[in-house]
Amino acid sequence: MPIANFLARQLRKPSGWWGKFIMSRLLNAGNIAMNELTVQQLALSTEPAIEATEKILEVGFGGGYLLGKILDRPAVKFAVGLDFSPEMVDLARQRFRSFIEAGKLEIQCASVENIPYADASFTKICTVNTIYFWTDLKKALAELERVLIREGTLLLCFNSPAFLEQQGFTKRGFQAYDVDRVKHLLETLNFKNIAAISQKDTLREEFICILAQKQ
Ligand SMILES: C[S@@+](CC[C@H](N)C(=O)[O-])C[C@H]1O[C@@H](n2cnc3c(N)ncnc32)[C@H](O)[C@@H]1O
Repeated sequence: MPIANFLARQLRKPSGWWGKFIMSRLLNAGNIAMNELTVQQLALSTEPAIEATEKILEVGFGGGYLLGKILDRPAVKFAVGLDFSPEMVDLARQRFRSFIEAGKLEIQCASVENIPYADASFTKICTVNTIYFWTDLKKALAELERVLIREGTLLLCFNSPAFLEQQGFTKRGFQAYDVDRVKHLLETLNFKNIAAISQKDTLREEFICILAQKQ
């Protein structure tokens, strides 16, 4: 099915005019439940008087829904959005220009396997709907562990294998992961206090949010 294959490619890496203006909006509208669960689990204070101390990295921000929510939180001192789609990077640089000019945000066009920041740069790292596309999940998680501070939190939010299969995505290059496999990888990579939350939204889309702390 050419349309389904086109959509799968656009989900992996939005590109061209369609990716920039249509896919970005579809992502922002379609993934609200997963992104809201992630922002809630990031546990960034909404208290206006709080001191801003958090340094957050979001990998694969797509249309930027979650990045916008992160930047609204007074607890956030500095944020980085990293995505390997030049179109998503352009869009975010336009949409969040004021935060970039204020020195609160950097947008990087890069891949998760090579994050252009020093060790221990971030207090929290999150990524939603991306791990299916990473060519080497263990290598990518090791890179995330490198740039996270000790005791920092990693959040991985992704659809269940059953949902991906039901939607036909596993036939179109999406690598599905069950919770235990991801948890096991994290255990081998210097993470502790690994926990998983599972939710279903109104479309009966099942997704999982894994939280882990760097040792
Ligand atoms: C399905 S979209 C999800 C976007 C957003 N997180 C959401 O939930 O709406 C996947 C995003 O991850 C990005 N991406 C996929 N693989 C990546 C990689 N290896 N490194 C950096 N970004 C990646 C894509 O360019 C795309 O913007």
